[in-house]
Amino acid sequence: MQEKIIILDFGSQYTQLIARRVRELNTYCEILPYNKFPHGTEGIKGVILSGSPYSVNDPNALYVDLSEIRGRYPVLGICYGAQFLAHSSGGKVESVNTREYGRAHLAWHDPEDMLFRGVKDNSTVWMSHGDSITMIPQNFQLVASTHEVKMAGFHIEGENTWGVQFHPEVYHSEDGTKLLNNFVEDICGCARDWTPASFIENTVASLREQIGNDKVVLALSGGVDSTVAGVLLNKAIGSNLTCIFVDNGLLRKNEFESVLENYENMGLNVIGVDAKEHFYSALKGVTEPEKKRKIIGKGFIDIFDQEAHKLTDIKWLAQGTIYPDVIESLSITGMTIKSHHNVGGLPEKMNLKIVEPLRLLFKDEVRRVGRELGISDKLIGRHPFPGPGLAVRILGDITPEKVRVLQEADHIFIQGLIDNNLYDKVWQAGVILLPVQSVGVMGDERTYENAVALRAVLSTDGMTADWAHLPYEFLGKVSNDIINKVKGVNRVVYDISSKPPSTIEWE
Ligand code: XMP
Repeated sequence: MQEKIIILDFGSQYTQLIARRVRELNTYCEILPYNKFPHGTEGIKGVILSGSPYSVNDPNALYVDLSEIRGRYPVLGICYGAQFLAHSSGGKVESVNTREYGRAHLAWHDPEDMLFRGVKDNSTVWMSHGDSITMIPQNFQLVASTHEVKMAGFHIEGENTWGVQFHPEVYHSEDGTKLLNNFVEDICGCARDWTPASFIENTVASLREQIGNDKVVLALSGGVDSTVAGVLLNKAIGSNLTCIFVDNGLLRKNEFESVLENYENMGLNVIGVDAKEHFYSALKGVTEPEKKRKIIGKGFIDIFDQEAHKLTDIKWLAQGTIYPDVIESLSITGMTIKSHHNVGGLPEKMNLKIVEPLRLLFKDEVRRVGRELGISDKLIGRHPFPGPGLAVRILGDITPEKVRVLQEADHIFIQGLIDNNLYDKVWQAGVILLPVQSVGVMGDERTYENAVALRAVLSTDGMTADWAHLPYEFLGKVSNDIINKVKGVNRVVYDISSKPPSTIEWE
């Protein structure tokens, strides 16, 4: 039985972070909307109530009846979660004059309390709230205070229930991991044995049970998620999995051949489809970015559908969906929706059942699972690459010649990053072909050729990004190499915009 912690989400920006921290403790957890506790589910070892953008005094505050949860499972309320526990038991939560945001220090905590055991005196904790608990009910025992907030932590007598008004999940909370570990291991009694290896073992077993002898088709992109999904499925169902890898003519230099070879070496049953002409002709003369994306998305669906129909008896479509996509679609506040759904519409069109073996993993967990599966570091550590490929890096219309020029320039930049140990230091990098020609001089000749922009960014999730401060000498060398070796380019610029307000891709 899979042990798990349930995190009830009241909409806090930190909810995903709580899940990551619990999983870093090798304990499986799931985020569910605040009012969707899975009563009757086996394996639940404890419950965490998240923070929220609401105040408990707000008429629209999210309310849930905890009578079936408290006393039955260990509970930890964080921020709003703690205030909700106090408020719904007759305590008082008030809006305070000095809103407490950022660093605070524990002025006092009970060293004998199970949740605070081992937490240092004066430990830094991270606060982020405008309300504060000003009175706790009689059966609540105060176990921690900061200088500003008296009721920083409490325990409910006779129950395995705690509340903290600070955020132990935030990295700036010094002993946050200690505190979460006390909850997960000592209070909930979790075995802390959820590892990539155990994930693989359980997932392979459940994929076999779910799929049986049916046949499955998967679209590979060369990226981490679809590759890990493919290797995992291959381990579960072997040759009943067929993978399709489409060359849309917008991949990097030699990418199609080298990725295909890698896949074959991994033992995957892959069909490589050369669809370059299909995409080039559909894109001919199109300059509008969104139109390009739509054409590429549709082209991909058509080619995939056409190839999949050549296979017989396919029952399932596998996808490399990962946890952030799932949580976003469950999001109770509905504020963040990603817009890059490359294969949206495919499941409906193909009328197949969907299997998503990675739907409960975060990106870094997908990488750990990939390594455990023996996938090479080179593939696991690849930079993200957009589904529409170089099409969103060629501003204006697309021709095979422009693709060639960009592939050459991009290859020099990326290889340069690798050779200078910079590749793993940047989150993503690439070259953009600009629809700008300028005058240059080469030898005794006047040139009138294209400019390209180099883009390299630092980021953690692609939602925000800063431009990478690459060394000038390196940039100078790359610029020289590109201008000397790539026919058609006589000027190189470096993009120093951050996101926001810019985006990572130019289109
Ligand atoms: P932006 O340009 O929005 O990109 O800052 C953020 C991240 O998403 C990638 N990206 C895409 N990925 N299909 C994808 O699979 C797309 O249409 C797409 N557009 C952007 C981009 O490369 C960056 O990593």
